[in-house]
Amino acid sequence: MSPKVTILFVLFIFVNQVWSASDKVICYYASWGAERPGNGKFLPEDIDPNICTHINYAFLGLSDNGTLEILDEDLDVTQGGFSRISALKEQNPNLKVLFSVGGAAAIPWTFVLVSNDSDNVARMVQSALDLCEKYNFDGLDVDWEYPYGESAQQFVNLIASLKAAFEPRGYLVTAAVNSIPTEVGGGYDIPGLSAVLDIINVMTYDFHNYIGGVTAENSPLYGGVNESQWEKDNRNVDGAIRQWIDGGADPAKVAVGIAFYGHHFILANPSNHGLDAVISGPGEPGPYTDNLSSLGYNEICEFHPNGNTVFLDDMKVPYMYEDTFWIGYDNEESVAAKVQYAKDNNLAGVFIWSVETDDLYGFCGQRNGLLNSIKRAMES
Ligand SMILES: *[C@@H]1O[C@H](CO)[C@@H](O)[C@H](O)[C@H]1NC(C)=O
Ligand SMILES: *[C@@H]1O[C@H](CO)[C@@H](O)[C@H](O)[C@H]1NC(C)=O
Ligand SMILES: *[C@@H]1O[C@H](CO)[C@@H](O)[C@H](O)[C@H]1NC(C)=O
Ligand SMILES: *[C@@H]1O[C@H](CO)[C@@H](O)[C@H](O)[C@H]1NC(C)=O
Repeated sequence: MSPKVTILFVLFIFVNQVWSASDKVICYYASWGAERPGNGKFLPEDIDPNICTHINYAFLGLSDNGTLEILDEDLDVTQGGFSRISALKEQNPNLKVLFSVGGAAAIPWTFVLVSNDSDNVARMVQSALDLCEKYNFDGLDVDWEYPYGESAQQFVNLIASLKAAFEPRGYLVTAAVNSIPTEVGGGYDIPGLSAVLDIINVMTYDFHNYIGGVTAENSPLYGGVNESQWEKDNRNVDGAIRQWIDGGADPAKVAVGIAFYGHHFILANPSNHGLDAVISGPGEPGPYTDNLSSLGYNEICEFHPNGNTVFLDDMKVPYMYEDTFWIGYDNEESVAAKVQYAKDNNLAGVFIWSVETDDLYGFCGQRNGLLNSIKRAMES
């Protein structure tokens, strides 16, 4: 290479890296965490606004006519949930805060009704603008779980309408999407979505659950050496991200989902505690998160300080066992590996579901150890 070409080439690499920096840490905040008992309580002020680059407030509701609904007036407004989140921008002027609408518990049919009707879409757009203005928010994250078949085009149209109104005001429109785009109805026009979304949050977790009848990981980064080719392609973070990118998503808009929780099971036989071991059922709900078969990282750290931990070199995630207890989860090491993956692939960065189940009191070591591990990995 001639010196001139070399300089141009180096310049290109530099500009390219600046423009496609993997620097986003999008923190979903499950607002009801503020009402959990004891050490499970996690307030807006417990979020580090100098690590999170975006905070997505979960959730707003959606009514059949498109109007966005405040789901818990007391928590979100009277106790100041919304305004305390946007007040974090005083500590970091670059922080963006978004409302997230929908979620796993919302009725997907409402999104079908709204996106299929231009008056409803217009009401949704106006309602989002009003709420952003009123509470000093910076955009909307659409968490439609999930658009089916012919809704693919309506999903793109809905996002495009939001984008048209938001962009001139500097507001963002993002979405949380299914990890494997062709599963659960496959209602995604990936290139169409990628053209109008600012960020695509790919929910790269819940790859296995207790229905499978054996121990398995929630969010393996890669397939296991002994897994089938189908599992390698469809049951881990890398497989999912590849499908989105190969399907036409702009890598610079794709965020990798990191779970601050694990799936836990009851071992049928405590001496058979590896991966793929037979289970006798789902684990009991935790005292804070209260979900069958899942525990927040905070609950793992507080209630299982003496569990045996095994880190899987192929999947890059740990599991823990103790008597009949078994959990596949993420720790400081595995979240750092996921950040590195995002950087290596020039993705937008990572997102977290959800920041209020971090180890707030440092039972595993450092306070909020997972978020801090993400920060270190981002900076390394
Ligand atoms: C939309 O629905 C909500 C909730 O049902 C209702 O309060 C509101 O008045 C409706 N708005 C319009 C314009 O119909
Ligand atoms: C969507 O709109 C079309 C045309 O307005 C209508 O025929 C169809 O029934 C609607 N679908 C749903 C699910 O509302
Ligand atoms: C893969 O399977 C082989 C043969 O059963 C076994 O020896 C090995 O430990 C397995 N490797 C992993 C990482 O599970
Ligand atoms: C608990 O359940 C809610 C509602 O189903 C879900 O959105 C959330 O991801 C679960 N939380 C954890 C920590 O698994």
